[in-house]
Amino acid sequence: MSGLFITFEGGEGSGKTTQINRLARKLVDEGHEVLTTREPGGTPEAEKIRNFLVQRDGGNWSPMAECLLLFAAREMHYSQIIKPALDKGKIVISDRFTDSTRIYQGYGHGLPLERIEQLKQIAIGDVEPKITFVLNINTQTGLARSESRLNDQVNDGAQTEDRFEKLGNDFHTRINQGFIRLTKDFPDRCVLIDASRTIEEIASDIYNGIKPHLEKAA
Ligand code: TMP
Repeated sequence: MSGLFITFEGGEGSGKTTQINRLARKLVDEGHEVLTTREPGGTPEAEKIRNFLVQRDGGNWSPMAECLLLFAAREMHYSQIIKPALDKGKIVISDRFTDSTRIYQGYGHGLPLERIEQLKQIAIGDVEPKITFVLNINTQTGLARSESRLNDQVNDGAQTEDRFEKLGNDFHTRINQGFIRLTKDFPDRCVLIDASRTIEEIASDIYNGIKPHLEKAA
């Protein structure tokens, strides 16, 4: 039996976490078994790699080293957490997956996409999500939202996860354009969502995107 693998993608401050929590609650209320997880992260080792990559003092990684670390984390996350849950028939919702590497390390840092695909094949083979929601928001609005979340982290005394946020407007504009391009490259699984609307409107589009897959599985 195999479950349903859903991913959420988008630039900084696109509202993925809010939507993932909301969707997971709704699916659990309907009686589905749901696992929510995130990248980089999802296992203790992958969370350590996350700290290197996203925290302000995480290190000065080259784009290729960054990419290798991301696939190291992803290999463990997929084989130890995602695949076993899917094999049990669960719905797995991941906040980011391989598409983030295509976009951040590929479109953002300029690593050739073919190299990223080669590394992906080595790490996880042909695995792709069944549905990917790409939350699209204007770069300035997203960065402003993200900044306010980061200020909350500082006020809570947590480590600031802003290594990518600090890469500047041009980088983040390339990211947002890359995500739109992604929906054209993978039209069968990617759904582009206008994330500038209300939380309810966005949630309703997302649920409608998933419903046919739930009906198929029932
Ligand atoms: P988050 O803020 O959505 O939790 O994501 C953490 C950061 O990591 C975000 O700035 C994007 C970045 N990232 C990559 O650059 N490549 C990847 O493959 C993943 C999963 C995340």
